[in-house]
Amino acid sequence: IDAPRINPSILSADFVNMQRDLERIASADYVHVDVMDNHFVPNLTFGPQMVERIQATSPLPLDVHLMIADAGRWAPGYAEIGAASVTFHAEASDDVVGLARRIRQIGSRVGVAIKPDTPAEPLFEHLAEFDQVLVMTVEPGFGGQSFRADTMPKLRELKAEARRRGVDVWLQVDGGISLETIEQAAESGADTFVAGSAVFGADDIDQRIGELRALAAR
Ligand code: DX5
Ligand code: ZN
Repeated sequence: IDAPRINPSILSADFVNMQRDLERIASADYVHVDVMDNHFVPNLTFGPQMVERIQATSPLPLDVHLMIADAGRWAPGYAEIGAASVTFHAEASDDVVGLARRIRQIGSRVGVAIKPDTPAEPLFEHLAEFDQVLVMTVEPGFGGQSFRADTMPKLRELKAEARRRGVDVWLQVDGGISLETIEQAAESGADTFVAGSAVFGADDIDQRIGELRALAAR
């Protein structure tokens, strides 16, 4: 890959020292913001009001990952806040293409996410409607889970399909990305890497971002 992107997930940050933790990851590319509603996933984080404050405070642009039901109702609001990228789950929308167009029209990049066991084929014919496809490499909901290598064939298929159609879509992986797993994700076609515990669990966060970047670029 020419320029892999490393997007630290603030799910692993200290929520009461958010400004400090946002500053600690300033050498990364985007800040990955996990929005959960205790409905689409069995966990709860924060909503638009918090994300608006993160947007105002963060040195990095926002990569918002919505793990919420009824994505159509909420996703455009995150674009309106000014998030650089808004990703919703295909499983949470009955009009994936329509919602993608609404988000793009507001001015954000748009991503569609799929859980580890959701097939990618239905997205193939619509790839040009998205700026990013997020292949979840763990079941969404929690940080610190183990990377699911069985999702790599799906990533390869998406990479091949994007190439075949001449579509410039970023392929993002999220979940269990670490010094041990990032290379196989990169080899399988990922160019955008979310890492929560691997970044915030490091003694030297800046150094860890550099190490992940170097491994992904090999
Ligand atoms: C999981 C979230 C991830 C999470 C990743 O549902 O979408 O962004 O923060 O955490 P790690 O990198 O620790 O697996
Ligand atoms: Zn995420």
